[in-house]
Amino acid sequence: MQRTIFYLSATGNSLFVARELAKLLDEANLIPINTHTLAKMHDMEGMIGFVFPVYFCGIPMLLREFIRKLQIKPNTYIFSVATLGGGDFMSHQQIDQVLNEKQAKLSYHASIVMPGNYQLMYNTASQERQLKLFANAGKSVDAIAHDINQQKVTPLKPRKGLFARLLDSYYRKSYANHGGKDYNFHSTEACIHCELCADICPVQNIQMKDGKPVWQGKCQLCLACLHWCPKQAIQYSNKTQKKRRYHHPEVKAEDIMP
Ligand SMILES: Cc1cc2nc3c(=O)[nH]c(=O)nc-3n(C[C@H](O)[C@H](O)[C@H](O)COP(=O)(O)O)c2cc1C
Ligand code: SF4
Ligand code: SF4
Repeated sequence: MQRTIFYLSATGNSLFVARELAKLLDEANLIPINTHTLAKMHDMEGMIGFVFPVYFCGIPMLLREFIRKLQIKPNTYIFSVATLGGGDFMSHQQIDQVLNEKQAKLSYHASIVMPGNYQLMYNTASQERQLKLFANAGKSVDAIAHDINQQKVTPLKPRKGLFARLLDSYYRKSYANHGGKDYNFHSTEACIHCELCADICPVQNIQMKDGKPVWQGKCQLCLACLHWCPKQAIQYSNKTQKKRRYHHPEVKAEDIMP
């Protein structure tokens, strides 16, 4: 049976998980989610999976847009695997909602805690903590692949009432407050004009002007540009100056490039 994993990843956690899962699922086909793949028609056969980072307790906007465009046959086995820094309250429910719009549904879901990369709020975990998280993540991936190979179905807890409304409002406000406000990004004197930030952006939101990056107002807030800049020359207002940069140790910048 054909198996396809669509993944979205800025700092490599989700790419690492997607790669490991693909190996354990008979070399499943791996497809990144970015503006290039969004522009293509994906008429799906066989099993489909999504591996993605949790943003504001929900899913990245780009993932939502991507799923809306997929052609999915009825009764397809669909799984989702989230990577996250610690709190995931509705990402799988959101995926299921988008799938329901196309008469499909989520069959299986799982979440894996990895080092958090949301430097606008906190610093990445210490080296020691990261190693523990990676060891646990490896075990989780094995168990998840086993489940998926058995086509296991997991029930999805509905999010209803006040809690659901609060989560939804937090999600919408957080995205509204940041995505369009990418003027908060800037580059410092440390910039060496290498253009890596422009090349790595999944939605081509950075253009180079006079050798410096200029953000174009359609940011997904994935933070790939901030984390991968080789000189730590990218900052977000005054929130990121003292924070370490992060990427998964087994993922390189070239692997993330759209
Ligand atoms: C904009 C943004 C929002 C985030 N929100 C959450 C969140 O609500 N809960 C959480 O546990 N982690 C959150 N994170 C952390 C990421 O989900 C986590 O580090 C993920 O593994 C990153 O995956 P990647 O390396 O594939 O990009 C957020 C990260 C970003 C950039
Ligand atoms: S990645 Fe960093 S050093 Fe390279 S152009 Fe962008 S800001 Fe400058
Ligand atoms: S501009 Fe930076 S944070 Fe925004 S989508 Fe592109 S890489 Fe991600």
